[in-house]
Amino acid sequence: MKKLLSTVACGIAAMSFGQAAFADPDNNNLTVDGMAISTDVKAMADSPLDKLFSGWRFRESETQALQMDDFDNPSFVFVEDGEALYDKVDGSEGKACSSCHEDVAEFKGLRPTLPRWNEDKGKLYSMEQYINDCRVDRMGAEKWKWTGTNMTAMTSLISLQSRGMPISVATDGPVADILSKGKEIYYTRVGQLDMSCANCHEDNYGNMIRADHLSQGQVNGFPTYRLKNAKMNSIHGRFKGCMKNIRAKPFKPGGAEFQALELYVASRGNGLAVESPSVRN
Ligand code: HEC
Ligand code: HEC
Repeated sequence: MKKLLSTVACGIAAMSFGQAAFADPDNNNLTVDGMAISTDVKAMADSPLDKLFSGWRFRESETQALQMDDFDNPSFVFVEDGEALYDKVDGSEGKACSSCHEDVAEFKGLRPTLPRWNEDKGKLYSMEQYINDCRVDRMGAEKWKWTGTNMTAMTSLISLQSRGMPISVATDGPVADILSKGKEIYYTRVGQLDMSCANCHEDNYGNMIRADHLSQGQVNGFPTYRLKNAKMNSIHGRFKGCMKNIRAKPFKPGGAEFQALELYVASRGNGLAVESPSVRN
């Protein structure tokens, strides 16, 4: 386990880190309704981390337990909303998602590859953009807000189809430049507390910050139900919250900066299993 590093410098005296082990080191085995899901994996050779850990490992056992049974997992209320939306006709073309994508299970394997380069559009695409393209261009319906409840219900339902599969985001080819931009954002100190993502999630994971146990800030569990706000949280919504906590002006959800950061953070988790929809504090 990492120790408090001296690289966490004076500018961040306002934040103090305390040491702690994993909340419940014995409880490494995440089994969801009989499916064993690995919560750690050896990192790839080019990773700044030795071993990758899911955020689930850093939660208290009561929070961990909520994710081990779909009946107890509060996310499933929202997954059901997603199912209803999936069959709901909306927009000028009189179509529902299910008019074209008959079975949502066809999206199995999509979550672990996102975000990825969309050849037709010549842009990096997150799940939210694929969904909104279908709504606008194919259904004649309104876009959903990136971090809104309809969107997170749908991304929860679609992500669930890939539960247990390893994250495998591509980092080469046309996304290489965006990846470096995301990396730069990850390591840049910002805000009144003058901190970078890495100061907390790379240098101090495993340590306590205030009353919270710091994880590696992985995105393999997203969308995630947070006990704090009792709703599904998108990746960009979480990034925004972390930036606010260090009193930085957050980037815009759905904007180029958070998309680059999403790509970079997802790539840091390559190999970790998809846990969506997960439960966190
Ligand atoms: C009129 C038919 C149609 C409707 C309605 C529609 N889609 Fe699509 N969707 C497509 C087509 C065609 C593609 C591109 C080809 C493909 O990858 O399947 C696509 C692609 C996607 C993708 C990317 C899949 C991938 O593997 O790249 C997602 C995600 C998606 N749709 C979700 C939805 C959701 C959610 C809805 C409802 C809000 C919806 N679609 C409504 C036809 C439709
Ligand atoms: C001051 C420390 C701090 C900084 C800096 C920080 N975070 Fe966090 N972050 C937290 C805390 C605390 C949590 C909740 C506990 C945990 O999972 O680490 C969290 C959670 C997360 C999670 C959710 C992990 C999960 O498993 O659900 C992600 C993703 C994340 N942060 C990404 C980022 C990114 C990207 C940045 C940089 C823009 C960042 N954080 C900056 C403290 C920080």
